[in-house]
Amino acid sequence: MKNIVVLVSGGGTNLQALIDAEKRGEIRNGKITCVISSKDSAYAIERAALAGIPSVVIPRAAFPDNRSYSQEILRELQKQKADLIVLAGFMIILDECVTRAYPYQIINVHPALIPSFCGEGFYGLRVHEKALEYGVKVSGATIHFVNEKADAGAIIMQGTVAVENDDTPQTLQRRIMENVEWKLLPRAVSLFCEGRISVRDGKAYVDL
Ligand code: GAR
Repeated sequence: MKNIVVLVSGGGTNLQALIDAEKRGEIRNGKITCVISSKDSAYAIERAALAGIPSVVIPRAAFPDNRSYSQEILRELQKQKADLIVLAGFMIILDECVTRAYPYQIINVHPALIPSFCGEGFYGLRVHEKALEYGVKVSGATIHFVNEKADAGAIIMQGTVAVENDDTPQTLQRRIMENVEWKLLPRAVSLFCEGRISVRDGKAYVDL
């Protein structure tokens, strides 16, 4: 059974999708053992408590720089004996001291079709604002491994939705969450725990 540690910063709807999937028995060979939040006000912490999952708050604001913050995150991940780390709406780009310690063991959900609308500065609603500004007709979400470059690790899965003429960043975000993020993230996590994701030449393949 793999220990899954989920990192959050906000509302935690992706965390909820993982909790619900685990309750339905859809996370095979994995268990969410801890939630780490970068903000003490994150509603995701409530969701963890309601599900009986221990949580730890490591506030970004308490550290002078990203490196020292990431070192503290690394210490906690090691203490938790994490086998898989899931960034579920975690809004901080971790230093390579974390990504190097867990190669192909950190999974992120990004709310756009990488390589579009991604990288530094593209997070949360801002991603959807940029997609609408550009005028794309299709958007979606990407589940990918995390490496030392922002949103540049091997892609595991992607899913799409149509962009409607009257979309706002909020309506587009909601459609992508409901139709892609909340479905694909638990699926990718289960596949990882079952050992069904392999990496060859820097690309990820799902063994179906
Ligand atoms: C989600 O849409 C997630 O894809 C995005 O933030 C939202 C968090 O929602 N993540 C990023 O932008 C990371 N670059 P949630 O807290 O309700 O899961």
